[in-house]
Amino acid sequence: MELYDAIMTTRSMRRLTNDPPVTDVEIEHCLRAAVQAPNGGNVQPWQFVVLTDPDQRQRVAEVLQRATTRYMDAIEAMRPPSDNAASERSWERGARLTRHLADHLAATPMVLFVLTPYPNILTDDEGPIEIGRLEASIFPAVQNFLLAARDIGLGTTLTTLVKVYEDEIKAICGIKAHHDVVALVPVGRPVGNFGTPPRRPAETVTSWNTYGERRPFADPTT
Ligand SMILES: Cc1cc2nc3c(=O)[nH]c(=O)nc-3n(C[C@H](O)[C@H](O)[C@H](O)COP(=O)(O)O)c2cc1C
Repeated sequence: MELYDAIMTTRSMRRLTNDPPVTDVEIEHCLRAAVQAPNGGNVQPWQFVVLTDPDQRQRVAEVLQRATTRYMDAIEAMRPPSDNAASERSWERGARLTRHLADHLAATPMVLFVLTPYPNILTDDEGPIEIGRLEASIFPAVQNFLLAARDIGLGTTLTTLVKVYEDEIKAICGIKAHHDVVALVPVGRPVGNFGTPPRRPAETVTSWNTYGERRPFADPTT
């Protein structure tokens, strides 16, 4: 498919099946795209673990369910005051889907872990050197994976709740203690349809020359 269409219709797909089964060849196709991502100094600070084993996936799912319960209780306390029914529905939908993913992870065809063996802080004799967060060199690779998956019709979601009980995840997957788990991406055949997810229009978050100077974008259909 066209690249722009793939970008515009890549959304979080959490209802995933294995019919027909997701193949290793498809995952390898997406991983090849992942490692082509830009990254600071071309250090390529990523490692990937593809989880296909049902027993391991079940154990990971149990950890993620606990993490999700804890997260959702905590985030509920931060729920913004409801100003309209649409934002209320959007909040409820997000919560429901996050819960759904955790509750169905064990049945997800494949689960990808993205990790880094590198420390987040670069130091020398003078101390820490501020070079921005290491994840900035990893999330572009994750996004490449998501887009390559979209291109071949696979559904994915970028998730990070795996961080909550990261040490338990590492133990299940034999990930070294000093490695940092950055994200978990479930992969499968989507049950729902791909489509353009709701976002604030680009023109409402773009300034020209001076912050706050907005101008309407040209009509893309003309
Ligand atoms: C850094 C990051 C962390 C996320 N973590 C989770 C997560 O742990 N669980 C989950 O279900 N979705 C997670 N998401 C997915 C977001 O909820 C999703 O991108 C957002 O709601 C927009 O969804 P949409 O693209 O379907 O509109 C995460 C997304 C990002 C970028």
